[in-house]
Amino acid sequence: MSEARYDAVVIGAGPGGYPAAIRLGQLKVKTAIIEREYMGGVCLNVGCIPSKAVIHAAKTFEKIGQADAMGIQVARPTIDMGKLQAWKRGVVTKLTTGVRTLLKGNGVDIVDGTARLAGSGPDGHRVIVQGARGEQTLIARNVVLATGSRPFEIPGFATDQKRILDSTGALALDHVPGRMVVIGGGYIGLELGMVYAKLGTKVTVVEALPSILASMDKDCVGVVARKLKKMGVEVMVNAKARSWRDQGDRAVLEVELAGGQLATVDTDVILGSVGRRPNSEDLGLEVAGVAVDKRGYVQADDHLRTNVGGIYAIGDLIGGMMLAHKATKEGEVVAELIAGHKAAMDVRTIPAVVFTDPEIASAGLTEDEARAKGHTLKVGKFPFAALGRALSVNDTEGFAKVICDATSEEILGVHIVGNGASDLISEAALAIEMGAVAQDLNLTIHPHPTLSEAVREAAAAALGEAVHIINR
Ligand code: FAD
Ligand code: NAI
Repeated sequence: MSEARYDAVVIGAGPGGYPAAIRLGQLKVKTAIIEREYMGGVCLNVGCIPSKAVIHAAKTFEKIGQADAMGIQVARPTIDMGKLQAWKRGVVTKLTTGVRTLLKGNGVDIVDGTARLAGSGPDGHRVIVQGARGEQTLIARNVVLATGSRPFEIPGFATDQKRILDSTGALALDHVPGRMVVIGGGYIGLELGMVYAKLGTKVTVVEALPSILASMDKDCVGVVARKLKKMGVEVMVNAKARSWRDQGDRAVLEVELAGGQLATVDTDVILGSVGRRPNSEDLGLEVAGVAVDKRGYVQADDHLRTNVGGIYAIGDLIGGMMLAHKATKEGEVVAELIAGHKAAMDVRTIPAVVFTDPEIASAGLTEDEARAKGHTLKVGKFPFAALGRALSVNDTEGFAKVICDATSEEILGVHIVGNGASDLISEAALAIEMGAVAQDLNLTIHPHPTLSEAVREAAAAALGEAVHIINR
């Protein structure tokens, strides 16, 4: 078996692992990255990027249908799913090829295969890679575990990507199903449920909690819930998926409602989107002595160190917010640490975006969270309907909300619902990261006419100084 020595070995080339390896290469640390399936991980191949591609396509499809209001007459749009899939694959390929080029350009060795930890010796940790051409051993003082996560399968709902889909299957459909039940009204269920609803599928969302998107700002969720209703999507809350049976021409889902009553829903396909679980099995964690919690997440501290010296863990594998940009930040921090620089995962906020229509974007605390921490609040809200830009692009749903401490006026949270929210939230993240007060946002000139004016006006509204709405 061949042996190679490195200063650092990264296992998993998702948005956590590949930026870690690139940064290590930039910092002149001799690095190899091992990937078993796809460069770019879930994010580039079956997650963020392909989902945003199909979301954009579905939005374009819907917008064409609404162009008549602006005097543009077009024939009723149709969708060619084969062509959509080919375009989506093209987007993914461009990005994944780019990742390979970046790794190589920064002097990182790419090893294709499945890695497992195999203990350690005086010269470092041993990682065995099973590849197409047999096994090889890599020895390194530092190992970064970045193996990510996979969909959680509801017991009794074995994914076959025909009747029972997970997000990967739902992103690869070659047809628009007549009916779809989405189990779980979270990120995936609502993003992809809306895609198919726009393309003509009758969608039903089954959510166990009293609300969809329970962790997001309630007012923002209300706007999306109204849009779902307008689109004809049925949302069942306090409803748990129990079992299903195949009736040949349809699937029948049994749902337990509040109070224990049972209901059935007929459907063509079922999308299971009830969360994800860490890829921590078969990784040799027990051999290396790396600790996991009871749900299988690797335990790591604010320096991304596991309990074993020289072994770090990042991204979905360690839980917390399972988001690509959180994984990337952790990857960059780990690279700096291994290279001997001072760094830590020390952030005030990890912004989050749900790419529904309209989008919900959030940074910092919700009103409930801020009050629970003992703050008295000033809250300012500004509707997109009062914004020239929103009216002129015919997209007026939603608002921006700025939450600040009543005394210090420090910005504690910003929540935006509306199209463009995903881009607007970065200003809020910067403000929170820098400890800005509401007046900082208000005093900053925002270009006109842009959607960003909503963020400034919401900050002004928190101070009772908004110009384009009546302050209350
Ligand atoms: P992953 O992306 O899971 O990458 C881990 C990699 O490790 C994989 O490539 C895997 O093949 C490899 N691997 C695993 N075990 C081994 C092994 N033993 N040996 C070698 N290689 C191994 N997040 C956002 O921030 N924004 C979004 O819009 C967004 N949309 C999403 C849409 C969908 C449908 C899904 C499913 C997820 C979405 N996410 C989004 C979440 C995001 O994809 C994840 O948070 C992110 O990919 C986690 O990155 P990671 O590097 O930790 O792991
Ligand atoms: P999720 O955690 O967002 O939502 C799961 C939902 O399923 C919850 O509302 C939960 O209450 C519900 N649920 C659980 N069991 C149920 C049952 N038996 N019956 C009915 N409802 C049930 O998980 P999801 O949508 O699978 O996404 C996984 C993760 O991927 C997200 O948490 C997020 O971290 C990431 N992601 C991020 C995106 C983004 O940043 N835009 C997009 C897609 C995914």
